[in-house]
Order: sequence, then C-alpha cells, then structure tokens
Amino acid sequence: MGDGIEKVVEQGQSTPNRWSTRLAFVLAASGSAVGLGNVWKFPYITGSHGGSAFILLYLLCLAAVAIPVLMAEVMIGREGRMSPVGTFDRLCSQHGIYRRWQICGWLVMIAGFVILSFYSVVAGWAMAYVVRTAMGQFTWVTADGAAAIFADLVEDPERLLAWHTLFMGLTILIVSRGVRGGLERAAAWLMPALVVLLLVLVVYGTRLHGFRAAVDYLLRPDFGALDHGAFLAALGHAFFTLSLGVGAMMTYGAYLGRNSSIGGSCLLVATLDTVVALLAGLAIFPLVFSNGLEPGLGVGLAFQTLPIAFGQLPNGVFLGTLFFGLLTLAALTSAISLAEPAVAWLQERRRMSRVKAATSVGIAAWALGLGSVVSFTEHSRIDLLAGSIYEFLDYAASNVMLPLGGLLVILFAGWVLPRSVVLDQLGGNHRRWPAIWLRLARYVTPGLMLLVFLESLGLLA
Ligand code: TRP
Repeated sequence: MGDGIEKVVEQGQSTPNRWSTRLAFVLAASGSAVGLGNVWKFPYITGSHGGSAFILLYLLCLAAVAIPVLMAEVMIGREGRMSPVGTFDRLCSQHGIYRRWQICGWLVMIAGFVILSFYSVVAGWAMAYVVRTAMGQFTWVTADGAAAIFADLVEDPERLLAWHTLFMGLTILIVSRGVRGGLERAAAWLMPALVVLLLVLVVYGTRLHGFRAAVDYLLRPDFGALDHGAFLAALGHAFFTLSLGVGAMMTYGAYLGRNSSIGGSCLLVATLDTVVALLAGLAIFPLVFSNGLEPGLGVGLAFQTLPIAFGQLPNGVFLGTLFFGLLTLAALTSAISLAEPAVAWLQERRRMSRVKAATSVGIAAWALGLGSVVSFTEHSRIDLLAGSIYEFLDYAASNVMLPLGGLLVILFAGWVLPRSVVLDQLGGNHRRWPAIWLRLARYVTPGLMLLVFLESLGLLA
C-alpha cells in the first residue's frame, strides 16, 4: 500500500488505535500479565515461602513496587500516545527533557522483542503437549517416561521449529488485525476461556483427596518462613508477573482513553492477575498431592510432574488437554503484548501497514527464536555466551534489561516527567491519590526496584 492511501485509511478511522472500552484495556493488560509465571511460578514460591503469610508480603510488594511501575508505564504511554521509542522521543522534545532518556524506549522495546523470540519456543512446548495429552500418551506414564517424552520433544529441533512457527504465526495473525480487531478481540475471548478452563480444573481438584494438602501447602500461614529470600522472591515476582519493563503495558497505555482512571484500571489488572495465580495453585496442587508427587518449580512441574498426575487420574486425558490448552492461551495473550511495541514502532517510523509491520516483527523474532530452538539439543553450548543461546537471551532480557527498564521507567515518571503532567494523568478530580503515588514513585519504588535489579544480577544472594 502506498503512503498516500495509508494516510487516508488512517484518517478514515474515527479513533485510530484506541481500546473501545476501559474493560478492553483491563482484559488485554491482564492477558499480558497472566502467563506462564502465574501457573508455574507463583503457586510454588507461595507454597515454599510460608503460604498466606507470603501472599500478604507479595500483596505489599505489588502495592509498593509493581502497581506503581505499572501505573508509570501506562501513564507514560498515554501521555506519548506512540510506541515506546516514539513516546520517549516525543516526551523528551515536548518537555525539554535530556534526550538520553530516549534510550529507555529502545531498551524496553528490544527487551520485549528478545523475550518474544524465546517465549514463542516455550509456548510451542505447551501446544505440543495439548496434542500429546489428547492422544493419551501420558496414560500410566512413569516419572522416567514423562522425562523421556519431554526430552524427546525439546531435543528434536525440527519438531520444536514446527511448533515455534505455528505459535508465532498465530501471534502475527492476531496482532496484524489491529488493536480492536486483533488484540482486543483476542483478549475478550481468550481471557474468559482461560478462567473457565481454570475453574473446571479447580472444581475437579476440590474432589480429590489431595485437595486439603494442597490448600494447606498453598495457604497455611507461616510467618517464620518470611526471610530475606521470601522478600526478594515476592519483590521479583510482583514485578515479573505484571509484564513490566518491556514496554508492553506502555504501549497498551497509549491506546487507553483519556477518561479512564489509570489507578483503578491498574488495580483491576493486578487483582485479576493475582486471582488467576491463586486459582492456578488450587488447580495444580491437588493433582500433585493426590498422586504423591513433589511440588516443584517451572518447566519440570508443568511438563514432567503434572503429566504423571494426568496419567493416573480418571479423566486425565481431558484434564491434561485442558491444562495445556490453558497454558497455550495464557502464553498467546502475553506474546501479543510482547510484539505490539515493535509493531507500533514500525508502523510509525517506517509508515508500514499493520499487516506488514506485524509480519516483519514476527519473522524477525521467529528467526532469532531459531537460536533458542537449537539451544536444547546436546551440543548447544557456546563458550563465548557461557551457555546456550536461549540461556544467554533469557538472562540478558529477564535479569538485566527488564529490571533496568523498570527502574528507569519509575525514575522517569517520578523525577523527570513534569509534576503537572503526572498529576493531570493520574488525577482527574482527585488530588490525594496522585500525591501519594508520586511520593511512592520517588522514594520507595526506585529503592525496591534497585533491589530487584541487584537480586536478578545475583548480587544479593
Ligand atoms: N507476566 C508473564 C507471566 O506472569 C510473563 C512476562 C514477564 C511477560 N514479562 C513479560 C509477558 C512481558 C508479556 C510481556 O508469566
């Protein structure tokens, strides 16, 4: 499409790139926030760090760190109304801000792009497992058998490639349909679907004999367990689970209507995310404990422990298929948000059509993902990177760029952006809450973000 036609098309839209309602924003942002972390990380760190005592600590960290940073991202996005790069450019020139702050926009956008590249590979595993469970491959599987099935998958580059390609294709398809027709519509269908699948699993879990043990593990308060490790885990996870530091929430904020309250919307997103994480624990642990298995963290729990449980339970094929379907949906709504900042940037910088921009980002992230695809095979170690390509990208993005991005964003919103802009974005008619936010964002949140950053660099262990 030529430039001229595109402009006409853009002008032809009455409200280009805006969510149709506040609920659409809340669903899309929750879709980004609810991801693999809610399913395989939160329940386990809660169980192993003091149950409901940990949950209280986690809620404090959400309030003091994650929600203020989320509000900062959304606020910056809505003030700039462009991709992260465009937004920082615009805010710097509009308010006479030192231009080096533009690096922030690049940092968060590149982090999102890098994460998308390997996120798609891991999401591909979940898709592959939908098929495997549906075909009954896990019926009466042993622990060794489950491990072998997993190894078979991740050590087969061709199969991984196929799933990675399929997942990225789906992501591009949704993103290329635009904010309302793609992102919004996907979130409106996928989020409720995800909650329903989760509820089915929870209800099933309540009827298993391991349910009490699960509730006990997840909720029994143990304030003695709240040590320095629990604090750092709560802090890091609160930040991670709200998908901060990659410009995703910033770009979603750019599409938020002027009259929607940022504080209220962000609070809703954090609440939904937490509810889903708790439900995930109530869905997963009864399966684990009813089969005398050990709860664990991450990939092992989802792809090796749970399949054993599905193999032994009545209706296990059905439940397992639901579970991996759920994981796939959760990953899809997160992947969309990872792609959006770069897509928006290509559209505004290169004047590309939406479809072309989404396809370009998708193909580039897909190509970078090939590095992760081969990372799980035997000879994948690259000495220069001190590990496989996947390990390197994951570390650089998750442990360095993401917390650094979050720290810079909160400093920018708290100290650099003119106070009048902040009060105006957050305020509406209120004066008190914005003032409280500003105090948190200036003094408390950056300090805690610095802790997250040092911890993820391994400097606080
Ligand atoms: N929030 C996601 C989860 O809980 C993971 C995640 C972290 C993410 N950063 C992100 C997702 C950025 C999308 C964009 O699993």
